[in-house]
Amino acid sequence: MRKRIIVANWKMNKTPKESLELVELLKEKVDTEEYDVVFCVPFVDLIPVASALEGTHIMLGAQNVHYEDFGPYTGEISAPMLKEIGCTHVIIGHSERRAHFNETDHTVNQKIFQTVNHDLTPIVCVGEDLEQRKNNIIIEQIRMQIKRALKNVSFEDVSKTMFAYEPLWAIGTGMSASPEQAQEVCHAIRQVLAEMYDHETANTIRILYGGSVTGKNCAELFAMKDIDGGLVGGSSLKEDFAKIVGCK
Ligand code: PGA
Repeated sequence: MRKRIIVANWKMNKTPKESLELVELLKEKVDTEEYDVVFCVPFVDLIPVASALEGTHIMLGAQNVHYEDFGPYTGEISAPMLKEIGCTHVIIGHSERRAHFNETDHTVNQKIFQTVNHDLTPIVCVGEDLEQRKNNIIIEQIRMQIKRALKNVSFEDVSKTMFAYEPLWAIGTGMSASPEQAQEVCHAIRQVLAEMYDHETANTIRILYGGSVTGKNCAELFAMKDIDGGLVGGSSLKEDFAKIVGCK
């Protein structure tokens, strides 16, 4: 049985001061042992948010990481840095990073090695754009992203990862994928994992859906067989997030 996980992706929102206000608003409402809850916040918010979350079950995540431990990489943050301040998860290969910051399947692959080597859980994002959906090259796109991301990743390491299916056309648009559309792709992700590894391994890996998840549509999305939770952007910045975490 895979435990549901709800991941908040604050993106580039909330100053350190504002981050504490948001944590204050949500903390008690989303502190649960029933599901895993992770706040992926901007780098400068990590330390204050870590303190504010002390004594709760809520986990802390980053939205990116560099693939080396240290060195001449101006402006970057390393896995040991994140680990030391209490991060447990890192979002990798978000489509916004792929679109604006040259993230590729190759760097995603490097970052998967880097995170698992430092005992951080990578949340690996994949998804098709609107053009690909219109041309019905959805599953091919997803399979290719997964295969490249997992190049040379061992059985042991793949079981420490999780995936998020985030169709680009659904991110921040208010137009979520339907539960059936999301299930179809999440199932395809599990399928490719089963082909590359085995069914047992594929069945233990958590696969999330992301893209305009709200308190209103979460129940039908999370009811789907291969959807193990959500990666939530816009709705994670307000009280609606508590509804998503409490979603039955
Ligand atoms: P959204 O973002 O919930 O605002 O659509 C999701 C994401 O990009 O992770």
